[in-house]
Amino acid sequence: MLQKIVVKMAVTASAPAKVILLGEHFVVHGEPAIVLAIDKRVYAKAEKRQDKKVYLRSANLNLSGYFENGVFKVEHGDHREATLKFEPLISIVEKVKQNYDSEAGFNIEINSTVPVAAGLGSSAAVATAVTAAVGVLLNAKMSKEEILRISFEAEKVVHGTPSGVDSAISTFGGTLLFQMDTGFKPLEVKADIPLVIGDTGVKRFTRAQVAKIHDFKNAYPRIVEPMMRTAREIVLRAIDALRENDLKTLGDLMNINHALLYGLGVSDESLEWLINAARKAGALGAKLTGAGGGGCMIALAEKEKLQQVLEAIQQSGGTAFTARKTDEGVKIERT
Ligand code: MEV
Repeated sequence: MLQKIVVKMAVTASAPAKVILLGEHFVVHGEPAIVLAIDKRVYAKAEKRQDKKVYLRSANLNLSGYFENGVFKVEHGDHREATLKFEPLISIVEKVKQNYDSEAGFNIEINSTVPVAAGLGSSAAVATAVTAAVGVLLNAKMSKEEILRISFEAEKVVHGTPSGVDSAISTFGGTLLFQMDTGFKPLEVKADIPLVIGDTGVKRFTRAQVAKIHDFKNAYPRIVEPMMRTAREIVLRAIDALRENDLKTLGDLMNINHALLYGLGVSDESLEWLINAARKAGALGAKLTGAGGGGCMIALAEKEKLQQVLEAIQQSGGTAFTARKTDEGVKIERT
């Protein structure tokens, strides 16, 4: 019997952005974090080339370049930025090729609705979507665990010593409890978590933000270690609040969590403006999300107050949008 060989011409995969509800930074030091995937996605389209080049293009960032014979050449956009964004992706493509014994070249195009360097996990979502698209194009039957393993390697190139929380949520979606030594566990969440996201528009590097906490911990271990334990208690208490849909408690916990992050130097003026505006407008809780130092904040509010909180963030100079959690992790959109 003739075996049917499926030749795929192009594959588009997508992966979600995320918000860390509680526990960022502390998670890098082994504490738990709660993270949810949101309805903003990154799309990666991969197609095979006749030659062995790996050609990358980011429509939103207006960057393109290609990798050939071990050398990366920028074709369009700022050289440093293109190298920073694309080198981790090249490492992914090489890893998938190596695992699936391929000599192929690719055109990869990235389209995204996720703000970059803003704490919403755009780099992990890009890495996850690219891994899945190239894998399916090569007929590699990759499990989600394998996609996570490969895309997490790219995150290490970008961020140095990431916890892995961003890669895990982009791969699996939903609402997860994540801890470095035990991995992730889906959480039971009764209802929607009504959130407004406010983007300060201030870009920053996760790596530098993570280093600040390491420095504080080294300088003041007896002060910072109890803060880490408090962060853990906040997350553990929040698991019950989520299960019971107790938004009031969840808001309080977000405020306490933000106070800890502020104390450790990872907030900034732009975030504080938006956080204060959200609280004044009736948010139950507000905090930075992700690495801080700019980037995004989140505010939790009763559904009827969401619009009011959103407008207050906008009036304070932020770009605001509401976000819904999504259960969809990485997925194939089109083949
Ligand atoms: C970045 O989204 C979250 C941090 O906790 C870093 C990490 O977990 O790798 C700041």
